[in-house]
Amino acid sequence: MKYWSGRFTKETEGIVDRFGASIPFDYRLAEEDIEGSIAQAYGLSEAGILSQEECETIKSALLSILDEVKRGNVEFQIELEDIHTNIEGLLEKKIGSLARKLHTGRSRNDQVALDMRLFVKKQIRAIIEAIRGLQEVLVDRADGEKSTIMPAYTHLQRAQPVLFSHHLMAYFEMLQRDAGRFSDCLARMDEMPLGSGAAAGTSFSIPREKVAEALGFSTVTRNSLDAVSDRDFVLEFLAAASILMIHLSRLCEEIVLWSSEEFGFIELDDAHATGSSMMPQKKNPDVAELIRGKSGRVVGDLMGLLMVMKGLPLAYNKDMQEDKEALFDAADTIIPCLEVLTLIVKGMKIKRDRMRAAASQSYITATDIADYLVKRGVPFRDAHRVAGRIVLYCVEQGILFEDLTLDQWKSFSDLFDEDIRDSVSLESSIKARACIGGTAPEQVSNAIAKAKEILYIERNKNSIRSRPEAGG
Ligand code: ARG
Repeated sequence: MKYWSGRFTKETEGIVDRFGASIPFDYRLAEEDIEGSIAQAYGLSEAGILSQEECETIKSALLSILDEVKRGNVEFQIELEDIHTNIEGLLEKKIGSLARKLHTGRSRNDQVALDMRLFVKKQIRAIIEAIRGLQEVLVDRADGEKSTIMPAYTHLQRAQPVLFSHHLMAYFEMLQRDAGRFSDCLARMDEMPLGSGAAAGTSFSIPREKVAEALGFSTVTRNSLDAVSDRDFVLEFLAAASILMIHLSRLCEEIVLWSSEEFGFIELDDAHATGSSMMPQKKNPDVAELIRGKSGRVVGDLMGLLMVMKGLPLAYNKDMQEDKEALFDAADTIIPCLEVLTLIVKGMKIKRDRMRAAASQSYITATDIADYLVKRGVPFRDAHRVAGRIVLYCVEQGILFEDLTLDQWKSFSDLFDEDIRDSVSLESSIKARACIGGTAPEQVSNAIAKAKEILYIERNKNSIRSRPEAGG
């Protein structure tokens, strides 16, 4: 029998049950739901609705239900609609009518808001950890490529020489912001909604702040209508997830390009690539492509939920049940993507000669010609034009800068001296960009050292944070 059957005269049609039920997917909130119900029982005991003993009975029954759920020994019922009523039903089976007191002062509206927050919090911690894993590998590979030179591209045209380690560290920075976005999201959603009831709050004197503390929240929500209507935290999670996936997608796109014969900058480890069923020569970067593809699905999860929330009046509306599959899908997608990409970056072979060749067989240091003249007093715009003429001349002659004689240099400007030859070398060009954030070797080394420090602090922070959890 349904918990709300009192004012109804008919059973729900089977198809309506099946249509409205969320248990086919929200069974995944079982652990959070039980955690929340244990805290609810505690709140009710503090409010004098449950005795200490009743509270203990409920708690231990809920824990044994959790155990059964984890073992896969529980069959959830579609007629009971969702995880909340299913758990309550299981509790009643176990301890009888005492279970019927648990929903005092609570609605599934604040219950689901709580479960979702607990779920998102766990996901964020796991995602940040996986981001750190990828960052560590990027820093490690960057450390090993501190003298590997490649072209930086703009418009996918060779632009300026950079260290490959500098390129890898660009992704470290993106991931650093991604981790920051997830922790901001975590800090903002750190408010406990239980006690908001269906919409207006509860009339029982449940000490909300104590319940929040028991659940590991730093504070409570301050408006009951907002608390049961708010899915910002899911949207924010999905937004952070989308941006992260876009970053992964860009790295994957580069991996696809770099591993092509045209670029030939890297070779994927055999264990991380795939073959073709027809063309025996193929070695395909499927995994990178798939991550690139999956970024679309996570962005889709965000777009879908934004559209669900748009136009919903306060407070709870059943539309909001659509938040779960979007959240679960994104969560299930992100961590494997991070893990597998970490492996790919760790295992890929860097073809240093190919990278260098791509940089040297071009006019990639033309900016340095202009900079040379600027240092001798020529306005940049004029210097740029002279350098452009030199490039044009070389293109027409089919030669490189290094093939120009000093006389030829001087024919473009008598400010050129013997040292121009060195100024247009890849090494000098790179060394010259010694501003903070530039590609000069000492700057890149600093960036790598700083990154290692950040990761070291983060790793230790995590072990301090996770120790009490692991112990308790
Ligand atoms: N299964 C519902 C959901 O996921 C739980 C909340 C139901 N609340 C209600 N008033 N029908 O959103």
